[in-house]
Amino acid sequence: MKNILIVGAGGQIGSELTVKLRDIYGKNNVVTTDLNSDINEKVKDGPFYVSDALDAKKMAEIVDKHKIDTIYNLVAMLSAKGEHNPQLAWKINMGALMNSLEIAREKNCAVFTPSSIGAFGESTPHKNTPQDTIMRPNTIYGVSKVSGELMSDYYFTRFGVDTRSVRFPGIISNVTLPGGGTTDYAVDIFYEAIRNKKYTCFLKEGTFLDMMYMPDAIDAAINIMEADPSKLIHRNSFNVSALSFDPEMLANEVKKHIPDFVMDYDVDPIRQKIADSWPDNMDDSAAREEWGWNPKYNLSDMTKDMIEVLSKRLKK
Ligand code: SER
Repeated sequence: MKNILIVGAGGQIGSELTVKLRDIYGKNNVVTTDLNSDINEKVKDGPFYVSDALDAKKMAEIVDKHKIDTIYNLVAMLSAKGEHNPQLAWKINMGALMNSLEIAREKNCAVFTPSSIGAFGESTPHKNTPQDTIMRPNTIYGVSKVSGELMSDYYFTRFGVDTRSVRFPGIISNVTLPGGGTTDYAVDIFYEAIRNKKYTCFLKEGTFLDMMYMPDAIDAAINIMEADPSKLIHRNSFNVSALSFDPEMLANEVKKHIPDFVMDYDVDPIRQKIADSWPDNMDDSAAREEWGWNPKYNLSDMTKDMIEVLSKRLKK
C-alpha cells in the first residue's frame, strides 16, 4: 500500500482508520471521500473529497489523480437501518462495492471491504462459528455482505484483483457513532452510563454476540492488506473475533467503574431477531494462521479505556 483511497471515510471505522493510515503512510498518501462534509475534522485533514460512492466517474478521477493503489471501501448501511429500506440498502452496499471492484480491475488497485457477523444466519452454527460454513442471512445487510464476499472472490479468481476482507463483529468505539446496527447497544451503553448512570438495552439478557474494540479492528483492516499474499488460503472473508459477551456481562463490567450504574431492558423485536440469528462467537483460527491476527483488548481493558476516554470528553 502506497497511495490509499478510503471511501465512506466519515463513518465509524473510517474516522479512525484514516488517522492511523495517515500516521503510517503520510498525510498526502491517504485520500478520503464521504457523501457528507459534516464529518470528523481529522478525516478532512489531508486530501478529501465530498463524493457519492455510487458516482463511479468521480471515484475513477480521484484514483487517477492520486495514483491510488489500494481502496478501502467502507460504505454500508448497517443491519437495523437496512431493514427500514432494504432496496436502498442493497443499492448503496452493492453499488459502492461494484464501483470499487470495477475501478480496481481497470486501474490495478487492491480492495478491502469489511464483511460482518451479519453475513451469517439462523442455520449457521452459533458457537465457535467455523470459517467456512452455512451462510444464509435473513437481513438485507447480511445478503449484501455474503454477495459482497462472493463478488470480491470472483474478482480475484476471474480478474486477479487483490481483494481481501474480514468479517467484523460489533465494533465498539468512542470517536464516531455506528448508527443503525444491531450491536450499537455496546457503544450506547457507555455514553448513557457516563451521562445518566442508566441505560435501557434493546437486546435481552443472554444475547451473546462477537464484539471488538476499535484499535483491534483498525489493526485487522491494515494487517490483512499488508499480509503476504502467498500465505492467504482464504480472502473474502476472514472470521476475526476478540470479545464475546451479553448485555449483562457488559453492564457488570461498566459497574466496576460506575458503581451506581443501572441497566434495564426494553427489547426491540426486530433487532433481537437479527441478533438471535448471528453467531455467539466465531472461530478465527484461519485469520490467526494465515496472517497473524491477534487482538489486544479483552472486555476489561476495552471497558476501562472507553470509560476513561469518554469521561474526559463528555464531562468537558
Ligand atoms: N455492527 C453491525 C450491525 O450491527 C454488524 O456488522 O449491523
